[in-house]
Amino acid sequence: MTNPSAPSHVAIILDGNGRWAKARGLARVVGHEFGADRVREVVRAAGRAGVKFLTVYALSMDNKKRPADEVAALYRLLQRFAETERNELVGQGVKVEVVGDIESLPPACQQAINGLCEATAAGQGMLFRLAVAYSAREDVGRAVQKLARQVEAGALPVGAITPEMLREAMWTAGAPDIDLLIRTGGEHRLSDFMLLEASYAELYFTDVAWPDFSADHLLAALADYARRERRFGLTSAQVQAGGVLRQALAR
Ligand code: IPE
Ligand code: IPE
Ligand code: MG
Repeated sequence: MTNPSAPSHVAIILDGNGRWAKARGLARVVGHEFGADRVREVVRAAGRAGVKFLTVYALSMDNKKRPADEVAALYRLLQRFAETERNELVGQGVKVEVVGDIESLPPACQQAINGLCEATAAGQGMLFRLAVAYSAREDVGRAVQKLARQVEAGALPVGAITPEMLREAMWTAGAPDIDLLIRTGGEHRLSDFMLLEASYAELYFTDVAWPDFSADHLLAALADYARRERRFGLTSAQVQAGGVLRQALAR
């Protein structure tokens, strides 16, 4: 049995901006500028395709260790995106949230992103999450600290801790696990992105660099997903018997 419906949660590791620019004799930053424009198109296309949750990995915690001028340009682009896309996203009914260490961003960038989140908070359409200053390992580490503090305060017996509680304590709480994880730019790795949330994600790698990634490329990834059989550890026969798949999906 394949997946006739659109994946509920699509996540994208947008990659290849720098190499795309270099191949054209341009500065890496120019690749990021073109890349920012693609986000607009892909958000719109995902909403139209029936995706309920879209997470885009725009800046990792490790990316902040890049040369200062590149990092500053990335912050500027994030800020500009948050300011210029606001009305468009409100109009589409998209609700925007951030996952990551937003407090580590420059104040102007934080303000713009928080402003975008507030302006779109009532959106009833797709939930669009920007992963910025994000690290999966950091998210798990901080969530463990939160639970440990409750244990320390005597409010939580150690034996009562469940994987679900850990997930609830994370930045990424409030969205289901990833169904389809797309990485552009030709690399086949996760680069510290949503390691728990991607446990049963269908992985889709494409050589297309992010500045070239279009709505049609997204639709091709969705079509590929639709042809896959997700088994969640079960047998094909069990999956085809139905019901069981829904139980597994409900986890
Ligand atoms: C992705 O493109 C954007 C960010 C990581 C911020 P890269 O900047 O990683 O581009 P490549 O991988 O060097 O081509
Ligand atoms: C991952 O891409 C981070 C984002 C897409 C924001 P990188 O380009 O930083 O990953 P590596 O260094 O190739 O693993
Ligand atoms: Mg890269």
